Order: sequence, then structure tokens, then C-alpha cells
Amino acid sequence: MAKPTANFTCTACGARHKKWAGQCEACGAWNTIQEEAPLAAGPSAKSLGGARGRMIPLADLGTAEPEPPRAASGLAELDRVLGGGLVPASAILVGGDPGIGKSTLLLQAAASFARKGLKCLYISGEEASAQVRMRAHRLGLADAPVKLATETSLRDILTTLDAERPDLAIIDSIQTMWADTVDSAPGSVSQVRAAAHELTSFAKRRGSAVMLVGHVTKEGQIAGPRVVEHMVDTVLYFEGERGHQFRILRAVKNRFGPADEIGVFEMTGAGLAEVANPSALFLSERDNPAPGAAVFAGIEGTRPVLTEIQALVAPSPLATPRRTVVGLDAGRLATTLAVLEARCGIPFAGFDVFLNVAGGMKVTEPAADLAVAAALLSAREDAALPADCVVFGEISLSGALRPVGQTENRLKEARKLGFSSAIAPARSKPGAPTGMTVRQIADLTAFVGEMFGAG
Ligand code: TYD
Ligand code: MG
Repeated sequence: MAKPTANFTCTACGARHKKWAGQCEACGAWNTIQEEAPLAAGPSAKSLGGARGRMIPLADLGTAEPEPPRAASGLAELDRVLGGGLVPASAILVGGDPGIGKSTLLLQAAASFARKGLKCLYISGEEASAQVRMRAHRLGLADAPVKLATETSLRDILTTLDAERPDLAIIDSIQTMWADTVDSAPGSVSQVRAAAHELTSFAKRRGSAVMLVGHVTKEGQIAGPRVVEHMVDTVLYFEGERGHQFRILRAVKNRFGPADEIGVFEMTGAGLAEVANPSALFLSERDNPAPGAAVFAGIEGTRPVLTEIQALVAPSPLATPRRTVVGLDAGRLATTLAVLEARCGIPFAGFDVFLNVAGGMKVTEPAADLAVAAALLSAREDAALPADCVVFGEISLSGALRPVGQTENRLKEARKLGFSSAIAPARSKPGAPTGMTVRQIADLTAFVGEMFGAG
């Protein structure tokens, strides 16, 4: 008989380990590894044997099946991120830091869907119905026909859902749900997985859409949303800096639409307001061009978004100078600094470097490389870039600039916001004339020459 293997899972990233360790090898987080309750003697405990199963009906790829009808909420930013609206029988995970506004967003979403005629159920495991109702009052949603409940027992919730057959069920949050079949505390990896599995299969079985809230957790006692990402159809993360009022809803996985799509919201006293033109918002605090700032013409999902990349370069008293990055990948900063040093002979040793994306935005596109380099050079030389200029392009390790996609869309958006020139890699395809002057540059050395006269 096979010996049961120990089963340890990282609550932060979901990686499995054979034994317990203080640090997860996969994601580097400390004290996040937890033992999972062993599976009860299910089919995996013994071989299937000779007994025959049921024959599964097979279909052709070409079999005509109508596109699932989507329900739009009317909140355009949310609908965009969902890929055009809510797909029936889908499971959607909404992750985010505690207090970022997930409950607010989903209550507003529930109210919008309910006003469009969908039957919506909001089940809170964290707040009392009175609290949810009070928030709904404050948000002006009290008249929306949303059904509320406070419950954490998965069995009771599933019974209720089976009887009610809602079009949309919102579970806030998955970490408070508790299945009596699993022998561990609510919030543990096994409980969270069991709850997500049951609710997802309910969605598939009954054709309801299910939205699950998952808190991103810092300590290891509670499993984070990453451990259930693979079970659901769509994974959305609600991000933002606590100090900023902007919130970004980002699709990181979507079986029914494009991933990487973003929706932008603003947290106001009366809930989340949609931001239809994020570029204007991210550039709004920009007055006179200061050294160290470069405007990046980026693409988020299907939409062009302009953001300001800011750098500060200052002589460092430290033996190992500081490298601080907010909103960008630290690895890309290191690479860009190394290329500037190796290919253009501009050293940053002895300088502290701080890099930031204005407005609490997160930029993941490689096309931001050139804007990062521009901001770094501008900060180091203490010379402001032209105020009317946007920058984009990927930097390769050789120092060459690589063209990036959707040049025309980037230029159009820049034009719309009053910019008149752009610096782009050579061989970019500007497409139809956009009224922008585009300077195409082959490599980083030429770029340095262009910007600051021979560096
Ligand atoms: P909440 O939706 O409870 O966060 P989560 O469910 O992600 O934990 O939002 C909490 C924060 O949002 C809280 O700090 C207050 C703020 N907020 C507003 O600024 N305006 C509002 O209208 C609401 C409802 C909340
Ligand atoms: Mg909440």
C-alpha cells in the first residue's frame, strides 16, 4: 500500500512542497508553508479497478454552440475587464489587499446587475447584513433588488444557492467560508480550495455566475487567492496604493476575454467612480516638465494609457547604493542600468536610484524600457525632456531598440492628450498619419546623443 505523502502548500503562491520549510523556494515568502489535510479515502486512494464507468458523449469541434450571452452591468470599466460582460456559469475571482475596495466594487456591481434584471445574491462572511445595508445606503444603492445574507457555512450556502438559482452569486470572502467535510480551520489552504471547488462546480452545474472575493494575505495562516487561481475562469486583481484614490481592476486570467485588460476607478466618498480616460488622470499632476520625468505611451489590454515615469538619481553615501522601484519591475531597472553602463558608458555606480510610476499605476510592458532609460538619463543629467514628447520602445541587452506593437494606437492617444512628438524604435510601424512627429532611433547610444547631445 502506498504511504500517504506529506502535503505542504505555500499559502502565498500555491506551490507544493514535500516537507515543511521556513521559506517557500518558489516565491521566497517566509512562514507561508502550511500542511494540508490529507484527502479522505476517495477514488485516488485505490486504483479504479475493472468496474465500468458511464460513456461520455463526444462532440466535434465544429458543433455549433451559440456564443454564451453576456450580461453587461452598465459599469463600463467592469464590463471591459470581464471581456464584455458577465458570462453565465463562470467563476470569477476578485483578489486584492484588505481594505482596497473589493466589497465596495462588488456591491456596486451586484446593484448594477440587479438593476439590469439579473437575480443577484450577495453573501457576506465578514460583515453583518446591517453593515452591508448601511454601505448600500451610503452608496445610493438601497433600492437595487439585491438579496443579502451573512453566512459562512458552505453547506448552507450551497443549499440556498441551489434553491434560489441566482444569475450572480457574490461570496465575500472565500477565506471565511467553511466546509464541514474538511478538517481544518477556515482560511487554511484546504478549506479555501474546497470552498472554491464547490462554488465553481455549483456555477457550472446550475449556470449561475459566481464571484469570489479573495484577500491577498501577508502572513501564512490564511491562504491567499493564488491557491485557487487555477480553479476559476477569470482572475481579477483590484490594485492601488492606499494613499492614492485610484484603483485598477486588472484581468490576469480570462477564459472569456483578453487578459491584461484594466479598468480604472476612483475611490470617492460615494463609492467607486469610473474613470473613462485614465491617461488624463495619470498625467493630471504634471505641470512644468521636471528633470527625471518621461511620459510613456503604453498599452494596457486593448486600451492605450499614458503614464509618467519618474526617476531620481542622487549621489549615494552607501557602499551599495539604493535601488528603489514603485510600479515597475525591479529586474528591468537593473537591466536598463546595466545596458546604459555597458553600451553607452554611463555609470550609475555611486548613485542612489529611485524609480516611480505616477498615480499608483503598475507598468509591466517591456515597451516601457525606453521611457525608464529616458527618465534615468534626464534625472542624472538634470535636464528635462521636451514637454510635448512621449517615449516608448523595448531595449535589448545589446543596446538596440526593438519595435513594439500598436504604435499607431500609442501615437493617437498621445496626440489626443496634446503631445506632438514621439521617440520610438527604428522600424516601428506608425500606421496612418497621426499628426505626431516620430523620431525613430536604432539604439540606446543614438538615443543618448539625440536627447543630451553625445551624452
Ligand atoms: P472595502 O470595500 O470594505 O474593502 P475590502 O472589501 O477590499 O476589504 O473598502 C474599504 C475602504 O474603502 C475603506 O477604507 C473606506 C473606503 N471607502 C470609501 O472611501 N468610500 C466609500 O464610499 C466606501 C464604501 C468605502
Ligand atoms: Mg470586504
